[in-house]
Amino acid sequence: MQTATPNSRQLPKTPGNLKEIKEPIKDELSYFEKKFKEEMKNDVPLLDKVSNYILKRKGKQMRPMFVLLSAALYGDITHKTYTGAALIELLHTATLVHDDVVDDSFERRGFFSINALWKNKVAVLVGDYLLSRGLLMSIDHDSTDLLRITSNAVKSMSEGEMLQIEKARRLDIREDVYFDIISKKTASLIASACACGACSTGADQQQINDMWAFGQKIGIAFQIKDDLLDYANGDIGKPKGTDIKEKKMTLPLIYALNHADKQTKRSIINTVKNNNNDKEKVKEVIDYVLQSGGIEYSREKMVAYRQAALNYLAGWPESAIRDSLEQLIMYTTERKK
Ligand code: IPE
Ligand code: IPE
Ligand code: MG
Ligand code: MG
Repeated sequence: MQTATPNSRQLPKTPGNLKEIKEPIKDELSYFEKKFKEEMKNDVPLLDKVSNYILKRKGKQMRPMFVLLSAALYGDITHKTYTGAALIELLHTATLVHDDVVDDSFERRGFFSINALWKNKVAVLVGDYLLSRGLLMSIDHDSTDLLRITSNAVKSMSEGEMLQIEKARRLDIREDVYFDIISKKTASLIASACACGACSTGADQQQINDMWAFGQKIGIAFQIKDDLLDYANGDIGKPKGTDIKEKKMTLPLIYALNHADKQTKRSIINTVKNNNNDKEKVKEVIDYVLQSGGIEYSREKMVAYRQAALNYLAGWPESAIRDSLEQLIMYTTERKK
């Protein structure tokens, strides 16, 4: 087995091209999509309609890519690998459908969110349905090991979202708590994707743990990027500038607050607490964050997590799969959506 050995290999040259990254696993990804579609089928007309709507507006599918590539790093992709990939994407989709209810968000993947079109009731039930299909699929395929890995992630995700709500109410978030929240709400699923990939090819427990830790680093970098995109220019396929509106204090804002004088700090907290729907006041906070160095600081942190993941991969022999995984890690932090 290969172990993590930090080295100073150069960064991959062309980050950000998903099509290229998919190349070594394109047939496997098509097979995954077929399986994913099958798992969404059902006889209830309204459910089927919503499922089809979701299927037509697929996301970047980064998590199934992590499952397939992690599996291929250890051995041959198996039926169990596809079960893992479909399970992870089902859970991801379920949590996004619920997340848009929790965040009162009306745009997802460049289109209306489920709650925007069918209201919260339907979105809550569809999210539960997708989750249950994932659970059943893993039982049906005798993949309780995958189910154990992913169930832990689902538990962590709920804890992370609850912690986030608690902090949005009290507005007393610290940097260490931010990292705790994003580790739970986002990194746990990406960690599971990598662990499930390894598990599906018969890797041993230590190897599965290593891949989990590897995915955890990628997931943290992934969510810092998501939080940076909320402050970015251009279309990201979902509403922007909304974290403050939702009283979500993410790393750029936490940094800005930590470096603000008392009065500025009070004024920012007051906007987040009482004027979070006042577009002008929120823009003032955003502008303050942009000039505070918070974006650069968050980027540095993100790059450090990315590097830790790349260092782990550097211990593996060169292969098209390793290259593709490296590129996918780079894409995580350089993507525009
Ligand atoms: C969005 O994840 C949810 C977060 C954890 C920030 P993605 O950006 O991977 O969503 P899709 O599947 O590509 O839409
Ligand atoms: C991540 O949080 C969502 C989940 C982990 C389900 P966000 O609320 O920031 O995600 P987006 O920005 O809506 O995709
Ligand atoms: Mg959200
Ligand atoms: Mg976000």
